Amino acid sequence: MGVTAHQLISRNPARPDDEVLRLTPAGGIDLDRAVSRVQDASVAWGRTPAPQRGEALRLAADRIEQAAGELADLVCREVGKPIAEARGEVARSAAILRFNAGLTLDPEGDSLPPADGRSLLFTRRAPRGVVGLITPWNFPLAIPLWKLAPALAYGNACLLKPSEHSPACAERLRSLFAGLLPDGVLEVVHGEGDIGAALVAHPAVRALSFTGSTAVGREVAVELTRRGAAAQCEMGGQNASIVLADADIEAAAAMIAPAAMSYAGQKCTATGRVICEAGIYDQLREALVAAVDAMPVEDPTDPGCQVGPLIEQAARDEALAAVGRATASGGRLLRGGQPVGDGGWYMEPTLVEVDDPGAELAQEEVFAPVCAMLRAADAVQAAEIADGVRHGLSTAIFTRDLDRALELTRDLKTGLVRVNQQTSGVDYWAPFGGEKASGIGPREQGRAARDFYTSVRTVLISPSG
Ligand code: UN1
Repeated sequence: MGVTAHQLISRNPARPDDEVLRLTPAGGIDLDRAVSRVQDASVAWGRTPAPQRGEALRLAADRIEQAAGELADLVCREVGKPIAEARGEVARSAAILRFNAGLTLDPEGDSLPPADGRSLLFTRRAPRGVVGLITPWNFPLAIPLWKLAPALAYGNACLLKPSEHSPACAERLRSLFAGLLPDGVLEVVHGEGDIGAALVAHPAVRALSFTGSTAVGREVAVELTRRGAAAQCEMGGQNASIVLADADIEAAAAMIAPAAMSYAGQKCTATGRVICEAGIYDQLREALVAAVDAMPVEDPTDPGCQVGPLIEQAARDEALAAVGRATASGGRLLRGGQPVGDGGWYMEPTLVEVDDPGAELAQEEVFAPVCAMLRAADAVQAAEIADGVRHGLSTAIFTRDLDRALELTRDLKTGLVRVNQQTSGVDYWAPFGGEKASGIGPREQGRAARDFYTSVRTVLISPSG
C-alpha cells in the first residue's frame, strides 16, 4: 500500500504492479458522519430481539459460503496469503458467524438469591452501544469477523477501520452484510493511523477492539482508559516452540517448520523461537533444516504454496535487516536469509542459530519467515528462556511426558499453551489472547467475547408492598 495524492492504493504483494483497489481515505469529517450514523442505528439494533440478530449473521454466513472461491481469490491477491490458507480463512469466517449466531440464544445472565427471600435478583447483559474495530491485514476477513460477529450478536453497532493494506477485502465484507443489517449498524472507514487514532479518541465510541502492534495497542488502551471507554488489544507475539528431550523429533520438526514459515511467518501466533533440550539439539536442528527445505517460496496462487510473499517491500527490507543484525552479532545462518525473485516481496524461509536468549532476534517479533534456534540445558531452562521475552501470546511444547506438559501448561506465561501442536492456529470457539505485551483487556472469541461486547446490569426487583 502506498499513498499518492491522498489516495490509498492496495497492491498484490506477489505482483506489485497489480493494483487491487485505489480509494480516497476518510477524513475527520467522514469519520464523524460515520460515527453519527452508527450511533443513530445503535439503539434500535440493541433492542432488536437477539434471535433476529443471530439470523442476520447466519444469512451473512450463507453468502460467504456461496462466494467462497471468489473471496479466497481476493484474500490471496490482496495480501498474498497462500490460496489453501485463504480458503481455510474463508471457511473459518462463515463458521465464526454461525457460532456467534448460536450464542444469541444463550442464557443472558444469572438469577441470584435475594437478601430478603422475596425479591428477584438477577443479571442481564446490555450492549456497549457504538463499538470501534481496528483490524490488521493478515487475516483480512477472519479478524474483522471475529470482532464483528460477537459485537453484532450482542447488539452493538460497529465502525470498522480495516488495515490500509486490505481495503478491498473490507469492502467485500461490507457488501456481504448489505441488506441484512439496518442502515448504520455497520460502517467501514478507510485510512491509516490518523483515522484509527481519531476513532479511538471519538467520545461516542464506548468500546474498541484492536489487533496490531504492541506499540500502537498500548497507546490505544491508554487513550480509551483515559476517557473511560473499554479497551481490548491483541498485540504481537514472540512465540516459542519448546522441544523436550523425549519428543518425537521428526513429528516436532514437521509441526514447527510450518508454524514458523507458512504465510511467510505473518501471524502474531507464528513460532519465532525454537528452544530445544541439549540432548537432542543436533538431531532436531537437522530435522528442522530438512523440514524448512521442504517449504520453498512459491506463488500464493499455487495450490501447494505454503510460503508466499511478504506484504510490502518495507516489511521484507526490515526482515532482511533483522537477519543481518543477528548474523553480525554472532548468530549462525542455518538456512535462508536472502530475498527471492524480482517480482513480489518474497524472502527465503530463514533459520538462525542463536546462543544468547537475550539477542534481538530471540526477543523481538520479526513478522516474517524468520526463526531463531536456541539450546537449553534442560526443561526448566527451556521454560525460563520461553518466558524471558516481553510478549506472552502462544507457546508450543513437544513432549511425550504428560506430567511435564501439565506442569508447563500451568507455569508458562502465555495466553495459549499448545502441546504437540503449532503455536499458530486458533479455535474460534475457545478464548484467544495473550499475556504481558501481547494483550490488554478481556479475551476474544468463544463465549469469552461476551465480556467485552456487553456490560452487566445487576437488577433487583422487589414486591411493591
Ligand atoms: C491464527 O494463528 O490462525 O494477527 C490466527 C494474528 C492473530 C491471529 C492468528 N491475531 O496473527
